[in-house]
Amino acid sequence: GADLDAGGGPTTRHPEGHGVSVADLRGPTTPAPGGRVRRYALTARQTTVQVGGRTVEAWGYNGQVPGPPITAEQGDLIEVTLRNDDIARGVTLHWHGYDVPAGEDGAPGVTQDAVRPGGEFVYRFRADQVGTYWYHTHQASDVGVKMGLYGTLVVGPPAKGLDLTVPVHTFGGTTVTGVAGTPQAAPGTPVRLRLVNTDSVPHRFTLAGAAYRLVAVDGGDLSGPGELREVELRLPAGGRYDLAFTMPDAAVALHLDGGEGLRLGGGEPQPAPKGWPELDITRYGTPATTPFGPDSRFDRSFTLVLDRAIALVDGVPRYAFTVNGRALPNVPTQLVREGDLVELTVANRGFDTHPWHLHGHRVLVLERDGRRVSGSPLWLDTFDVRPGEVWRVAFRANNPGEWMNHCHNLAHAAQGMSLHLRYD
Ligand code: C2O
Ligand code: CU
Repeated sequence: GADLDAGGGPTTRHPEGHGVSVADLRGPTTPAPGGRVRRYALTARQTTVQVGGRTVEAWGYNGQVPGPPITAEQGDLIEVTLRNDDIARGVTLHWHGYDVPAGEDGAPGVTQDAVRPGGEFVYRFRADQVGTYWYHTHQASDVGVKMGLYGTLVVGPPAKGLDLTVPVHTFGGTTVTGVAGTPQAAPGTPVRLRLVNTDSVPHRFTLAGAAYRLVAVDGGDLSGPGELREVELRLPAGGRYDLAFTMPDAAVALHLDGGEGLRLGGGEPQPAPKGWPELDITRYGTPATTPFGPDSRFDRSFTLVLDRAIALVDGVPRYAFTVNGRALPNVPTQLVREGDLVELTVANRGFDTHPWHLHGHRVLVLERDGRRVSGSPLWLDTFDVRPGEVWRVAFRANNPGEWMNHCHNLAHAAQGMSLHLRYD
């Protein structure tokens, strides 16, 4: 079948009725005043990883899994030269959660051609958004990301004390934190943990041994986050949570899916706590002013019903993951104009969780299941729509081009749960 998630084709399509190709909507070539140029070279190639004493086939950038961490300060220019040694299906770099110009977005068949073995593509964008993000291939991404073609992107000054990025990934059934050994921090040291879920399913975290705050979600700081204890955090596929706490005298344990995750400091490992309630992030933190809200007048409204159904795939009816009863490429493109305030309602009628992800835009969550957000404003690039749930979100159409929006369970996206959003 076709690489539905990627568009798959070797040709770049052009938005109709536009003199400009999406591929021409490129980023600036210089940093902001006072900024620096951060140059990286990433070469995709086959490699192996060690998981739980086993050697597992993998694909990595520069032979590393995760790929090299990309870091920058606000205002820097990030310039990444992507090459492909031997990944026959081709690769790209997509900057997950980072609102880069469309031509830098790494969506093959939409914004560029996939980089084939021997090929090269140079990405350039300004580090405007501070926070925790990640990058991954977008070509045949259900296979490529699973195999290891991903890494982290962190913008901003490192937090004082211990600042640890924790990209969680599953290889051959074993979930690993991407952190080697037991990091040490003296009592009283501030600690920031940047959790990144690079898998296609949600992960559950509990932090035992310290009170902490959830200070950022999907890179965006929360307003007035209070202290948390004895709660479980559920991190959607593709999502990021930044946790902050002060190192206590004894060890702190971050448990992952009820098992061993990461331990900080010495001492006895603590058993994974059971029965802690899940934190509802739509009720956490303090309300703050936002540029628009649930009662705004919207220029466009779209409704997406997500399900699993028989739909045409390559002209043949078969089981697919569907948007309004259709599978990509038969899902109608959403058309917006620059400046529009866009309302998006996403309902899940199926039995699987669908982490809905937008490229190029962050959404403000308005309502989950008819209930307004009562805590901190939440600006997300991926929101987890569980079976039976309805989310109402909104965004400003302020990043012209053509964008892929899709379920970040990448197997679902590959089986049709994907669409394009295009500026008229
Ligand atoms: Cu993180 Cu279109 O993906
Ligand atoms: Cu899905």
